Amino acid sequence: MRLSSPHLGNEEKEAVCRVMDSQVINMGLETREFEKELYAFFGKDDANVICVNSGSAALHLALQVTGIEHGDEVLVPTFTYIATFQSVSATGATPIPIDIEQKNGFINLSDAKNRITKNTKVILPVLFAGCGVKELDDVYEFAEQYNLRVVVDAAHCFGDNRVIRDTGFTCFSFDSIKNITCADGGCIVTCEKEHAEKLKDLRLLGVIGDTDKRFAGTMSWDPDVTDQGWRYHMNNISAAIGRAQLKKFEKFKKIRCKYARMYQQSLPYCSFPFDEYVVPHKYPIVIDENKRDALRDFLAQNNIPTGIQYKPNHLFTKFNLGYALPNAEQLYKKILLLPLHTMLTEEDVSFVIEKVLEFYKKYDYNAA
Ligand SMILES: Cc1ncc(COP(=O)(O)O)c(C=O)c1O
Repeated sequence: MRLSSPHLGNEEKEAVCRVMDSQVINMGLETREFEKELYAFFGKDDANVICVNSGSAALHLALQVTGIEHGDEVLVPTFTYIATFQSVSATGATPIPIDIEQKNGFINLSDAKNRITKNTKVILPVLFAGCGVKELDDVYEFAEQYNLRVVVDAAHCFGDNRVIRDTGFTCFSFDSIKNITCADGGCIVTCEKEHAEKLKDLRLLGVIGDTDKRFAGTMSWDPDVTDQGWRYHMNNISAAIGRAQLKKFEKFKKIRCKYARMYQQSLPYCSFPFDEYVVPHKYPIVIDENKRDALRDFLAQNNIPTGIQYKPNHLFTKFNLGYALPNAEQLYKKILLLPLHTMLTEEDVSFVIEKVLEFYKKYDYNAA
């Protein structure tokens, strides 16, 4: 059993072979079609979809087009993957670690408010395990009140289209274990047309208008560049895998939601609060910190892998600003990720549940 896994089959193999046979493996028609298909999937008329080669690249570019630079500050929940913080520091701006809500890992807006300075330009909420989409309304209100731009880290949130808003930037990851994968990949979704055009150039080393040329199967032979860009475009092979995955998404969604429901019904006292629209990417449970590692060992003895995420970023040397963030630090000690992916069988999930319950019984642990 694995903690997380991609779900690849003949469709992805055929997609990769199709691109290889075409001898056009760079960004081209497959990427164009994947962007169109994602646009249809998101179902928002004025949305623009810009595919890139990772979720980290999506965050970095979205932050760059907000115009932030050295000396500016970005409010980021400390309880997230390192990529979120690194993408802020890649712009030259400083990520300001913010505490979270213990119930779902979402950014705590009272703490965010206390850390606003004249240099604060962006707030970057993270939807840990897909949770917190409803609370995004509060973030947008907060941003309006303090004149901030919003960049959303939706790496865990593919499938819940409520995350895409009229303003701001929503960044998805399609890395190997996300709700759909391109092997590596990601995209930015924004309804701000002018920024979308800029993002298309920035992903191709800043070459103006290069996206249209690549999609037409050519290149810019007399290019111009006005901004710092990056080699972040998505190639045809990744896009072809993504297209095959997108076609299977409804099937993936059903399985993920079914397994999450099984966990939720059997372990209600320690489960995260998933709402009905979320397509869970991870399945975290929360257990007293003096029992967490014992449960982890017990599950390992039964060949059940588990994970512990996330080490709060303010505890890393690079991002430590010298203050504690108690909710995140506590959740980090109490959280345990259970296996969740579409290669698991119902029997696998039942076995995990049985063993968690057995542990509780063995230690007479009453988590209710
Ligand atoms: C919360 C979060 N943000 C950003 C990323 C970065 O995405 P990628 O791995 O595609 O660069 C990840 C990847 O795991 C993530 O979990």
